Amino acid sequence: MKITVIGTGYLGATHAAAMAELGHDVLGLDVDQSKVDRLNSGEVPFFEPGLPELLKRNLETGRLRFTTSYGEVGRFGDVHFVCVGTPQKKGEFAADLTYVDAAVQSLLPVLRAGSLVVGKSTVPLGTAARISEQVERMGASLVWNPEFLREGFAVEDTLNPDRIVMGAEAEPAAKHLCEVYQTILDRGVPLVVTDFATAELVKVAANSFLATKISFINAMAEVCEATGADVTQLAKALSYDVRIGGKFLHAGLGFGGGCLPKDIRAFMARAGELGVDQALSFLKEVDEINKRRRARMVDLTRELCDGSLAGMRVAVLGAAFKPNSDDIRDSPALDVALAIQRAGSAVRVYDPQAMDNARVSYPTLGYSASAIEAARGADVVLHLTEWEEFRELEPEVLSEVVNERRIVDGRNALDREKWRDAGWTYRALGRS
Ligand code: UGA
Repeated sequence: MKITVIGTGYLGATHAAAMAELGHDVLGLDVDQSKVDRLNSGEVPFFEPGLPELLKRNLETGRLRFTTSYGEVGRFGDVHFVCVGTPQKKGEFAADLTYVDAAVQSLLPVLRAGSLVVGKSTVPLGTAARISEQVERMGASLVWNPEFLREGFAVEDTLNPDRIVMGAEAEPAAKHLCEVYQTILDRGVPLVVTDFATAELVKVAANSFLATKISFINAMAEVCEATGADVTQLAKALSYDVRIGGKFLHAGLGFGGGCLPKDIRAFMARAGELGVDQALSFLKEVDEINKRRRARMVDLTRELCDGSLAGMRVAVLGAAFKPNSDDIRDSPALDVALAIQRAGSAVRVYDPQAMDNARVSYPTLGYSASAIEAARGADVVLHLTEWEEFRELEPEVLSEVVNERRIVDGRNALDREKWRDAGWTYRALGRS
């Protein structure tokens, strides 16, 4: 099939390459010429494991290429995926639909009758119905098909999704999209075909549930800190109850990134407009618990530094919002690094992949070329993003370069006994 993918961020670039992998002819579009040039030359403009190989393989087959021209997109495609971002509006909770609206407005004049537009961006309830009217006026149809991929596992999640959800008003439109995903559906992946509003809701409800689960265990971490209980053992014991499960029950610095934080806020904003704000008032608390973890991390570091951060040298391990990503949007690690710097410390950050992004967005922070360099002369080391590389650090090696053997494990991911046995003062969130 002839497919176009509009927007080539984490979602769109992965989706374009994955659709070519399924055997379709794919044209990706981005308004950023330099991104298009990089993708056409086989270079992924961000870090996503497995994507460079997938991109190159499919560029070589001739089934995948990228353009900046909507005219070309209209002539080429039978099915157009909209994969642009919906960030949080500046100064408010609501989602900013500028990019979705711009993509749709550019697509409409070139849209061929009988073609299919597929929305994948995460949007406020009611957006699909509004866009559908515009698309239908051109003789085309709309399906809303939310995406559940995780950064760091984007390729795997796109090619082997745990479910496919389609919001459609007419059956032929959903059938058209089923043809695109036929090889995936043939493997028995569950398919839910529903109305527009439910499809939009599935996405924000899923992210709200995940955020709630993380904040639940982090609220328990607060209680653990007050009682001397151990949140990691609590989570382990809870996880054996299959009704609860162990995933997303990892206590620590909490959630960040370009999705969970802004999605729960946009959901609250939309619920307010719909007159059901009370139904989601718990999400405000989920957000607050999450923010308190960052503040607690700063306080814990201060406690460890005998009550003052002024004049301290602090090594920060991690800048990405989670491991296996270079994404620093709403990164808990960088938020903490900045707060500690503001409290008077000299901060040196190291991350295996997110250094370039961090330098651009946080130019006042100090950066080092390795974990060891960041730790050199440090009065305290903060472990804020749980990269494998940091788990493997040997305390004895770090002992030789630091000024004081003090570490705060913001992700409950290091081997506590190993660090204590090596003479370090080890502290963590939610356990002593
Ligand atoms: C999230 C969802 O997991 C995806 O299903 C969804 O498609 C995506 O948002 C999106 O809306 O596009 P992602 O933001 O890539 O994916 O990352 P997650 O793996 O969900 O992690 C989010 C944050 O929660 C990270 O900061 C992570 O460190 C934190 N987290 C995760 C915890 O603090 N504890 C946990 O137990 C799990």
